[in-house]
Amino acid sequence: KINAIITGIGGYVPDYVLDNEELSRMVDTNDEWIMTRVGIRERRILTEEGLGTSYMARKAAKQLLARTGADPDSIDAVIVSTSTADYQFPSTASVVLGKLGLKNAFAFDFWAACCGFLYSLDVAAGMIQSGRYKKIIVIGADKMSSVVDYKDRSTCALFGDGAAAVLVEGTTEENIGVMDSYFRADGKGLPFLHVKAGGSVCTPSHFTVDHRLHYLYQEGRTVFRYAVTSMSDDCALIAERNNLDKDNIRFVVPHQANIRIIEAVAKRLDLPMDKVMVNIEHFGNTSAATIPLALWENEHLLKKGDNLIMTAFGAGFVHGASYYKW
Ligand code: ACO
Repeated sequence: KINAIITGIGGYVPDYVLDNEELSRMVDTNDEWIMTRVGIRERRILTEEGLGTSYMARKAAKQLLARTGADPDSIDAVIVSTSTADYQFPSTASVVLGKLGLKNAFAFDFWAACCGFLYSLDVAAGMIQSGRYKKIIVIGADKMSSVVDYKDRSTCALFGDGAAAVLVEGTTEENIGVMDSYFRADGKGLPFLHVKAGGSVCTPSHFTVDHRLHYLYQEGRTVFRYAVTSMSDDCALIAERNNLDKDNIRFVVPHQANIRIIEAVAKRLDLPMDKVMVNIEHFGNTSAATIPLALWENEHLLKKGDNLIMTAFGAGFVHGASYYKW
């Protein structure tokens, strides 16, 4: 039996730091509100004209290739999870593949909002377990600043830009890597969290621009409630069927949307916060990138055999949890 493991991580965040002080000069908000309600002090923004999600994804993948020493010609596939693709088509993954100069790979985008990284890691794991593929780059990347309305104080403080990439490979070693997962999508989320325009229903027009329909809309309280319930129930289910508890879980790695959501999930799981990976304060919500960015920043804390539960919730609604043994 082949098990799928992460053999390296690369990450990239833009240099530009948008802090709460600067935001409070753009809209009617302040550091105290944002810190107490959301727990974000600053976020990174890709400000350079003409650069999109693929730029950050490529930077993360380049670091990954350098760190792992993997031969670019040995990569079988590139999967980019994003909700902020460079273009309607071609896929962001194909742009990344081209810029990296990969010759023997295929590429596709994975569209599952904030769950994108977890869903696509699972799909990549299945591809590796099949034995037909040996090396797959899985990237979570989002340029959320491209869909955030910087005139809307209820959303503009929440999001940032970033990307992180992992290399997924096979091993015959037992009891390691992607161990289990539980994912669901319930389709109820459309009215509560969406970017209405730009797709095939609401094609670009003066109307969509005038009504700011190309920006992210969310009903924060509803999203908050669903996020807490789904992520904690999904983690509890994964924990129960794998005999995991607060003593043998090393980290829960949650999607980073709001520190209060993360704390509520930890409380429901009866886990102390030092067993929860948190980086929301300096990166904000980078959608598909939050979980791999947290792994990238905290890799030095992980030891072989550590039990991780990763969990996410996002537009759709999509949600789930997966169990990974490091
Ligand atoms: N600064 C100051 N005041 C603000 C701000 C701000 N940035 N934003 C909202 N307020 C005000 C509101 O106008 C409201 O004022 P009012 O009472 O006079 O009407 C008051 O603060 C309370 O607003 P609520 O929306 O009730 O605040 P809440 O505590 O629910 O926090 C938040 C809002 C942060 C959006 C929260 O609901 C949340 O985090 N929801 C989940 C968001 C999420 O997870 N989204 C993404 C998931 S999917 C993905 O990652 C793409």
